[in-house]
Amino acid sequence: MKASDIRQKFLQFFAAQGHQVVPSSPLVPAGDPTLLFTNAGMVQFKDVFLGKEKRSYSRAVTVQKCMRAGGKHNDLDQVGRTARHQTFFEMLGNFSFGDYFKRDAIDYAWRFLTGELGLDPAKLWITVFETDDEAYRLWQEVAGVPSDRIVRMGEKDNFWSMGDTGPCGPSSEIFVDRGEEYACGPQCGLGQCDCDRIQEIWNLVFMQYNRDETGTLTPLPRPSIDTGMGLERIAAYLQGVDSNFETDLIFPLIRTLEDMTGVSYDPGPEGMPFRVIADHIRAITFLLAEGVSFSNEGRGYVMRRILRRAMRYGRLLGFESPFLYQLVPVVGEIMGDAYPEVTNGQTVIQELVKNEENRFLATLSAGMRVLAQKLESLQPGAVLSGEDAFQLYDTFGFPLDLTRDVADEHQVRVDEAQFEVLMQEQRERARQNRGKTVQHLPAPGPTTFWGYETLELDNEPIQAIFLGDDRVERLETGDQGWVYLARTPFYPEGGGQVGDTGWITTATGLAEVLDTLKSGETIWHVVAVRQGFVKSGQPAQLRVSVEKRLAAMRNHTGTHLLHAALRQILGEGVHQTGSLVAPDRLRFDFSYPRPLTREQVTAIEDLVNEWILQDLPVHKAEMGKDEALAQGALAFFGDKYGERVRVVTVPGASQELCGGTHCTRTGEIGLFAILEDSSVGAGSRRIEAVTGLNSLTAFRERRAVSDALLTLFNGTSLADIPDRVRQLQEEARQLADALREKERQARHERGRQLAAEAHLVGGYRWLVERVEDTASVEELREVLDGVKERVDGAVLVANHHDRVSLMVYFGERVRHLGHRARDVVKELARPIQGGGGGRDDVAQAGGRNPEGIARVLELAQHWVAENFDRAG
Ligand code: ALA
Repeated sequence: MKASDIRQKFLQFFAAQGHQVVPSSPLVPAGDPTLLFTNAGMVQFKDVFLGKEKRSYSRAVTVQKCMRAGGKHNDLDQVGRTARHQTFFEMLGNFSFGDYFKRDAIDYAWRFLTGELGLDPAKLWITVFETDDEAYRLWQEVAGVPSDRIVRMGEKDNFWSMGDTGPCGPSSEIFVDRGEEYACGPQCGLGQCDCDRIQEIWNLVFMQYNRDETGTLTPLPRPSIDTGMGLERIAAYLQGVDSNFETDLIFPLIRTLEDMTGVSYDPGPEGMPFRVIADHIRAITFLLAEGVSFSNEGRGYVMRRILRRAMRYGRLLGFESPFLYQLVPVVGEIMGDAYPEVTNGQTVIQELVKNEENRFLATLSAGMRVLAQKLESLQPGAVLSGEDAFQLYDTFGFPLDLTRDVADEHQVRVDEAQFEVLMQEQRERARQNRGKTVQHLPAPGPTTFWGYETLELDNEPIQAIFLGDDRVERLETGDQGWVYLARTPFYPEGGGQVGDTGWITTATGLAEVLDTLKSGETIWHVVAVRQGFVKSGQPAQLRVSVEKRLAAMRNHTGTHLLHAALRQILGEGVHQTGSLVAPDRLRFDFSYPRPLTREQVTAIEDLVNEWILQDLPVHKAEMGKDEALAQGALAFFGDKYGERVRVVTVPGASQELCGGTHCTRTGEIGLFAILEDSSVGAGSRRIEAVTGLNSLTAFRERRAVSDALLTLFNGTSLADIPDRVRQLQEEARQLADALREKERQARHERGRQLAAEAHLVGGYRWLVERVEDTASVEELREVLDGVKERVDGAVLVANHHDRVSLMVYFGERVRHLGHRARDVVKELARPIQGGGGGRDDVAQAGGRNPEGIARVLELAQHWVAENFDRAG
């Protein structure tokens, strides 16, 4: 049975039992800082289990993309070693939110496996949580499983939680016996060993508790069901193959690797590189398709580690240069039908992978040299310090596991605890840098946002005031604090758009609103009192700064058009990775592997301005999230959306989920102009642009510069100015060259004249001199060139700022006596504390002690006298 048929059957079976078919959520969980990646089907329903979020249905079924790398459920190091561990996989799951419980969950699972998929009941085994008598009984009653095939297990195996906090509960697992021939020994059996004979295929979790930060379990509002069956595992069983890697979901990747390397795949330990690479390229492709970018932090760092691990195994297959990127289209062929994102973005994804491979190859050779040096100084059995491992990580991007592997080869251990401490410190620094927060304030209540309709409200009573962490009655002139009201026209920072500014006025005072922020359902105004005082309970006049808000709106609608234009011009593989919408500018970050060409920038600007000139309406509508996504509305993974979402649509151009404030028609945006396209890290780019009056300002700034140039180049047209500047630069270069040549000749001549001072010692002409007015050792050499023509030997010393240069010249007659300039220069350089070297005829030294110059001259004269007075 093909994997795609299993997906279909699963969805159909549960839909027929009244389950809502819900699409997979992204691998990057929205707005959940407790979790690195979606690691199970229940993640998108977490708040529904906790009773914090309501849905229109109480049963759901999904095929969910999952990732188990980093965080609580981390299988990265296992991948390749076993038949059944993967980082990226698909999970089939059915869910009940306070609807059915254990009995129906067991019944559905049993009927699906034995009925729809035709599994032999005699081969199925069950585990239940040790104290769960109810489940133990239900499996016998509902499914007719004999008690000798139901095993009770402890917390480690049969209690499931998503992470350190969140919904959890006892579980019951279904196993399939693949037959005697897979037995690992006489003791082989469920609960006895961990071999591949009796394999877990489906986990039914009876969600009953929420675990908080302190580890305390509180019962959920209503007991629920969360199940998960790994698609690859069940496919392996149904396709009669020995491992997940041999299913139609993965094997084509291994085949391609065989073709690329000429090495045949071995299902045993030898085949590990094939399995690692096949798994990892799937994970990387899916993460890139969602806009995750390679980085040294968080998700991007996990993806980087995965790629690096794949490359290390690639070396074992003989790959010396980038190769992983060639597998991206194969992932597309296998998965594209179910997940169009991997084929839509294929060319961009390939390029991002290839660039990162090249980056790693460069890092690898630099880091390896450093690591080798460090290891050289250590004996086998010694410990490489956490600081060293951290430096390798921080400077060379060396993942800890790579450092560990290399250290292992030298029988050196890595101080991982110390490394972790340093990592933690770095994370803490990053967290603090995130800056301002209102999370610490106790929420007085929800705020209704009125700012879509109006920019002012009158007679709104001030509900609460905080100064620092303390609730206070009033704020006086000069105080800066937080004001809460039940309704406000002030937009709180969110979705990239900055918070509104403006004024809050009461009968007794005037407060400037510096920023507006949101925490949960509460909107906070950050205010500084400028006059009098404001007091809790007073009715207030609220005035949003109109110009700034309108400018922000132009930039926000402009950002949506830019996003749409990028996807049209550069391809659908472009994903937003961040954005900033401020009154004075907009900034848009997106995944793309290389700088934009001038033509691309122009095409993007043209398209956006075309939409603006068409003066298209900007519609805002509330609808169900699934409906919006089905219509093709773009969502940004960094934002959290509820079930009801606001969709901003510019017909024929753009459609996005967005809570921000927007123009009514695109014509209000005015001119859209890109000011800069730059790089922000690996595979990520940033466009900065302006709209409205800011475009006029940008134009005026540039016009002032061009006017000034026109005045300077009187009579030249603007278009000719670049050529004129190039011509001037060329002339200046030629003049500088000519001047340098003149000066060189002058120094040469000076050398020839200096040589007149030479003394005859034993029949040899010697010049030992201090030379003034040279700026560098090169200039001194030019003087020496002149001297050389007229003497047999010379010692010249010069002072250049705080450095001293010494040059020694021995002509042919001197050398003939066996003297070498190179040998003498070192001796002479001692008083200036310098080192030197050179050839037999000319040698030089540089030093830092000008006081020693007189001594150098003395030594030189002495040496000449000693060697030549007698020679003569
Ligand atoms: N959430 C459960 C699991 O992932 C079903 O195993």
